[in-house]
Amino acid sequence: MMANILLVGTATLDLVFTLDHAPGADEEMRAQQLRTVRGGNAANSAVVLSQLGHQCHFVGTLADAPESAVITEDFIRYGIDFQHSPRLPGKPPTSSIYLSHQARSIVHYRDLPELAADALDRVALDELDWAHFEGRNVQALSTMMHTLRRRRPALPISLELEKPRPGIEQLYTLPDWLLCSRGFAEQHSTGPLANFLCQMRKLAPQAGVIVAAGSEGAYAMQGEQLHHASAQAPGQVIDTLGAGDTFNAAIIAALLSEQALPATLHSACALAGRKCGMRGFNLHL
Ligand code: ADP
Ligand code: FRU
Repeated sequence: MMANILLVGTATLDLVFTLDHAPGADEEMRAQQLRTVRGGNAANSAVVLSQLGHQCHFVGTLADAPESAVITEDFIRYGIDFQHSPRLPGKPPTSSIYLSHQARSIVHYRDLPELAADALDRVALDELDWAHFEGRNVQALSTMMHTLRRRRPALPISLELEKPRPGIEQLYTLPDWLLCSRGFAEQHSTGPLANFLCQMRKLAPQAGVIVAAGSEGAYAMQGEQLHHASAQAPGQVIDTLGAGDTFNAAIIAALLSEQALPATLHSACALAGRKCGMRGFNLHL
């Protein structure tokens, strides 16, 4: 069944350099390939969800600059609605990404303002089946999530926790699902990831908590139950950029189709693993 999914977060311009080894300090080297593509966590997840048959509505700031065409043309290609994304003066947030077999380094720069709290005012909230937020600009997100809770109390909400941000803990009790990166978990607590999940359960008793853990697969906790799914390695790992965003998209799609949590984790690891075996986000589904 096709669902209407709101994704609030970033769209970036990614300069992806493919290298035969990770660059050392002061090294001068030639890349094997350079791709200039659309990126950004929420935008990447939207592109995956649209390939899974859903209608995605992306809301995030877009630069009023010619370079944004890479982003908007990709949205159009995948049928993603971005009509309520404000256009602001400036340049798109940009990442230089160095991909080699040994490492994946991302150098990111942005001076474009983050999304303001009134960004959802014109979005047709009544038509949504799911809302997903990138955990970034805490105050604005808090207002948006409270508005959604008031207007659509039963709408499922997920929040991505990728990097620690000042005050982000005030958002924990608002969503139904917390989608955490391993880096976020490790900043939060030491020891096995199960410790982090137990801590988050105390801080957000209403939410299911999921942690993507790279080649270790993924962990989840809902109520007292801890779940783990193994990663599903592709024949050859080619491009892990956006594996976590693909994983999040697959989690949302599986939960929308009312799959149980173990099956949800398993299908998210399968799709994220498949993505790692190919360049970019055209998953040929
Ligand atoms: P990111 O670094 O993009 O935030 P992660 O490294 O946490 O994402 O990976 C997200 C998911 O992608 C993992 O839970 C796993 O299922 C899958 N994944 C990542 N790396 C690999 C890999 N090398 N082989 C197979 N699956 C992987
Ligand atoms: C991958 C990604 C890139 C982007 C960077 C922003 O998850 O969204 O596409 O440049 O992260 O932090």
